[in-house]
Amino acid sequence: MSEATPNKPLRAILVGPPGAGKGTQAAAIVEASGAIHLSTGDMLRAAIKAGSELGKKADPFMTKGGLVPDDLVIALVVERLAQCATGFLLDGFPRTAPQAEALDEALKGAGVSLVVVLLLQVPDDEVVERLTGRRTDPVTGTIYHLIFRPPPPEIVDRLTQRSDDTEAKARARLDKYHSETAPVIPHYETRGLLRRINGVGSLDEVRARVLAVLP
Ligand code: AP5
Repeated sequence: MSEATPNKPLRAILVGPPGAGKGTQAAAIVEASGAIHLSTGDMLRAAIKAGSELGKKADPFMTKGGLVPDDLVIALVVERLAQCATGFLLDGFPRTAPQAEALDEALKGAGVSLVVVLLLQVPDDEVVERLTGRRTDPVTGTIYHLIFRPPPPEIVDRLTQRSDDTEAKARARLDKYHSETAPVIPHYETRGLLRRINGVGSLDEVRARVLAVLP
């Protein structure tokens, strides 16, 4: 279990392929550590829903399963990092080398360092199965899976499915992960920050593995 406290903030990155379980496990990490969950995917979807300028620019990239341009995402994250005195858990950022460099700069400027980088590892075919069966409860934000984490029958009618959770878009997102995001991981491994976590297993098994490697 994490020993992170407001006096010892967790400053962490959660990385892994789309559908690896980052959002699912982020909830447990945030509860254990008090860190603030910064999911760039959630922030971008909120911007689209709000019809903001950022949302209008991001929408076509997300709809295709591509990446939103670095300058837009970097500005979004750097602004939020400054508000995370109790620590942060970055989920979905950095996803490219320029984003990793911008994060280094921002943290250096703030005089703080990363504590840990958690890599959730799940094979591609399993990820596609997870993504196509994912459903979200718009009322509570809880992430379900039709088979692996079945929702209570009484809320099934209100669940939503993400438009990028088709098989074709899931494969496009995986391609981006392998070509743009995976090459960033050695950047943290050489600094001794990387913890690899087997993301295959029940939700509870994976949660126990994640919490066990928190500092
Ligand atoms: P984002 O929202 O970050 O999506 P992602 O990385 O593709 O990850 P997901 O949210 O799809 O999956 P997850 O790992 O959180 O899995 P989850 O816990 O839900 O980004 C979306 C888009 O925004 C990107 O494609 C891009 O366009 C844009 N974007 C975001 N950040 C960006 C950036 N930095 N730069 C540029 N563009 C950016 O779990 C998935 C399913 O599996 C669920 O149904 C869950 O119930 C189930 N599940 C979870 N754990 C298990 C388990 N152990 N066993 C079985 N099922 C499980």
